[in-house]
Amino acid sequence: MGYFRIDGPVSLEGDVEISGAKNASLPILAASIISDSKVLIENVPDLLDVRTMIDILRSIGMEVSFNKSRVEVFPAASPNTDVPYELVRKMRASFNVLGPLVAKYGSAKVALPGGCSIGVRPVDFHISGLEKMGFKIEIEHGFVKARREKIKNARITLPKPSVGATEHLMTTASVLEGIEVIIENAAMEPEIVDLQKFLKEMGVEIEGAGTSVIRIRGGVKTKTVRHRVIPDRIEAGTYAIAIAATLGKGKIRNLIPEHLNSLWEFLEESGVDLEIRENSVEISMDRRPSPLNIDVAPYPGFPTDLQPQMMAFLSTSVGTSHIRENVFHSRFLHVDELRRMGAKIELSDSTAIIEGVEKLSGAPVNGTDLRATAALVIAAFMAEGTSEIHHVEHIFRGYENVIEKFRKLGGGIEYVEVNEYVD
Ligand code: EPZ
Repeated sequence: MGYFRIDGPVSLEGDVEISGAKNASLPILAASIISDSKVLIENVPDLLDVRTMIDILRSIGMEVSFNKSRVEVFPAASPNTDVPYELVRKMRASFNVLGPLVAKYGSAKVALPGGCSIGVRPVDFHISGLEKMGFKIEIEHGFVKARREKIKNARITLPKPSVGATEHLMTTASVLEGIEVIIENAAMEPEIVDLQKFLKEMGVEIEGAGTSVIRIRGGVKTKTVRHRVIPDRIEAGTYAIAIAATLGKGKIRNLIPEHLNSLWEFLEESGVDLEIRENSVEISMDRRPSPLNIDVAPYPGFPTDLQPQMMAFLSTSVGTSHIRENVFHSRFLHVDELRRMGAKIELSDSTAIIEGVEKLSGAPVNGTDLRATAALVIAAFMAEGTSEIHHVEHIFRGYENVIEKFRKLGGGIEYVEVNEYVD
C-alpha cells in the first residue's frame, strides 16, 4: 500500500511511448485457452491485471511465460476447470474464461464477478448467450457452473453492445466445430477487432468485428499462433489529456490515432492544438480550455474510460461543461475527490455539470478505481501545491511504467510506501 506525492502545477512536456492495450491483452489471453498448440503474444503490457489473467491460466494448468512484453502460452496437459474465487474477485474480466473452458473441456466453474466502484457489473448477457448456444448454466453459492450439453447454432442479440459479452461469446463460439453463431448489437471497439484477428490466426472462420454483427463458424486449427497486441488507446488518451490539462506540449508515440477520433474532436473544440500523424500525435495547449458537452457512448463514441480524465481537464475550463455518463451511470466516485481539490462539479442523474474554476489546489485525495485514479494524477499535476493520492495501487492495474512515463514528461511523482500494519 502507498500513495503518490505530487507537487503542482507543472506543464508536462516531452515524449511518451504507448504500451500494448490492456483491454485487448485480457480477452486474447483468455482466448489462448482454446488453442491446442503454442501461442506467442507480443506487446503485452506488464500490468497487475495482465499478471492476474496469467495466474488464472496457470491455475487452469497452462504453462505461461511472460518477459519483456512477450507472453508464451502452452496448452494444459491435464486442465483444471474450476477457477479459484480469489483470482476472479481481483478482476472481473477473468469471468471470460468460463466459455472457452466449458466449450473445450465440457464443464467449468467460475466465480460470479462482484460489483466494483464504477457500478454494478452484471454478466446476464454473457450467461444468456452461452445458454443460447446450448450450454447448461447453474448459478449457486456465488459461482457459475457450466456444462456442455446439446450445442446448437445460435443468433444472439445483445441488449446493449457489451464489450465483455461480445468477446466472451466470440471466443466460446470459436471452439464449436461447424456451429454457426451470429452476435447482433455487438460492441465495435478496436480491442474486439484485435481479438477477431487473433482468432482468425487460430484458423477460426470469423467476420464482422468492428461492426454490430459478428459471424462465427467454429473450429480451431492446431497450429502455433503469433500475435502482436494493438496499442492502448485509453493509455494514449490519458497522456494526451494530461499534457493538455497542464498547458504542456508533448508527443504521444506508438498509438493508432484513429482509435481516438472522438477524443481529438473534443480536445480541438476546447482549444487544444493537435498534429495527428501515422502513429504519433503532437499536443499543445496554452490556455484554459473552452467548455464542452460530452455524451459518453460505446465505440466509436467518447469512451467511458476517459470520462474521469476529461472531467479533471474541464475542471479549469472557462465556462460550464456537461459530461453525461451513458455506459456506467454511477462512474462518479472521482467527483468528490476532485471537489476536495477545488473543482465545482454537480451531479444530476448520470450527468456531471462542471463549472470551470481558475485553478485547482493540491490536497490529499483517495483513488477509487483505475481511471478515477488516473484523473486524480492529472488533477494533481494541474493543481497549485502538494497532493497525496492514496490507494494509488489502482493505477498499476492499467498504466505500465506510469511513474517513469510521467517523470519523462517532467512530472515529479514520489511513491511513498505505507506499512499498513505498523503498530
Ligand atoms: C469493458 O468492460 C472494459 N474492460 C472496461 O474498461 C470498459 O469501461 C467497458 O468495457 C466499456 O467500454 C475490459 O475490456 C477488460 P461492458 P465490460 O460489458 O466488458 C452492461 C477499464 O478501465 N452489461 O461493455 O465489463 C454494463 O453494466 C475498464 O479498463 C450488462 O448489463 O463492460 C454496462 O452498463 C473499466 N450485462 C454496459 O453493459 C452484461 O452481461 C457496458 O458494459 C454485461 C454488461
